[in-house]
Amino acid sequence: MHVAAFTELTGPNGVTIIEQPAPDPGPEEAIIDVEACAINRHDLWILEGDSVMIDSDDLPFVSGLDVAGTVQAVGPGVTAVEPGDAVVLCPNKTCGTCRFCREGPENHCASYSLYHGGLAEQARVRADRLVVLPPSVETTTAAALPTAYMTAYHMLERANVSPTDTVFIPGVTGGVGVACVQLAKILGLETIGTSSSAAKLDRLEALGLDHAIRGTDPATLRRAVQEITTPDAVLNHLGGAYTELGVDLLSRGGRMVICGRTAGSRSEISVPDLFLGHKRIIGSTMGTQTELERLVSLVERETLHPEIEAFYSLEETALAFTTMQNRENVGKLVVTP
Ligand SMILES: NC(=O)c1ccc[n+]([C@@H]2O[C@H](COP(=O)([O-])OP(=O)(O)OC[C@H]3O[C@@H](n4cnc5c(N)ncnc54)[C@H](OP(=O)(O)O)[C@@H]3O)[C@@H](O)[C@H]2O)c1
Ligand SMILES: [Zn+2]
Repeated sequence: MHVAAFTELTGPNGVTIIEQPAPDPGPEEAIIDVEACAINRHDLWILEGDSVMIDSDDLPFVSGLDVAGTVQAVGPGVTAVEPGDAVVLCPNKTCGTCRFCREGPENHCASYSLYHGGLAEQARVRADRLVVLPPSVETTTAAALPTAYMTAYHMLERANVSPTDTVFIPGVTGGVGVACVQLAKILGLETIGTSSSAAKLDRLEALGLDHAIRGTDPATLRRAVQEITTPDAVLNHLGGAYTELGVDLLSRGGRMVICGRTAGSRSEISVPDLFLGHKRIIGSTMGTQTELERLVSLVERETLHPEIEAFYSLEETALAFTTMQNRENVGKLVVTP
């Protein structure tokens, strides 16, 4: 089978289509004919050599978390799915025995890690991590859900939002940003989002963003948000200086949930502002399989329409990463092997 492997960690030019043996299912495993695999900034960090998870000793490396397709074969002990089922993978890898696996939420697992391997014609996965799709949900749509939408869903959960709340989403145009807006709208929240691109913000307004602010300078953004309102929650996937900005902007008792570091891994915050304002900063990573099942259900009910910028063949995988690197996408980029 063909895979889009990372053969060098130098950016999109490090993607090479290579031949690998077709996988066989072991116990509790299934083989998926991959019809769609969305890419994420997480894959791009790896491809750019900016991830602690993978280094040159691991090459060639097949990334790709967000797998959807048809079950081709199952190994011994699999009862949840059978060949022919249309499925989407929850990319959580958990130990199944620690306190968090037993009590939940499972994404807090002490040994938590992520599945990789979807940028390929076939993927070998744990069968109990598959969510069977209803007939009305296409695999090409479902592939957009796992990483971006699960993460956004869990962030909104952790932000403890109420229907009258306003949420501030810096960097609103990418996978997680768009997912935050769409899910916040479903909850009836008011949304404020930022981008460097006026054209991309126009598209976000069409998707339901209430207040679009163009810019990247934190001081300018601070004034622009304050002119609108005082946010009750901040959904922050950028990190860096946007973290200090988020704390500054939050209402008394407000919550900022952080899941990423695109704009930097460090930030200075005003400690007195934090404690005198009863504000909270909350870390969050991915979501739970139950949340993915709920997202599939929202798509089935036509309440949620995941935003997909473009589809790419397996051979065009490098182009998909170039599009992400150049910040040209609104929402998701999906490879269809
Ligand atoms: N912890 C988790 O479980 C988890 C899960 C998913 C994602 N994440 C993290 O969340 C972040 C977003 O992921 P994604 O897949 O949604 O990425 P993405 O689609 O590439 O996000 C694009 C967004 O980021 C903004 N952006 C890009 N570079 C920027 C920079 N240098 N400064 C300010 N804004 C910048 C873009 O702004 P413009 O509109 O101005 O171009 C755009 O709004 C990543 O850091 C990722 O690792 C974490
Ligand atoms: Zn565990």
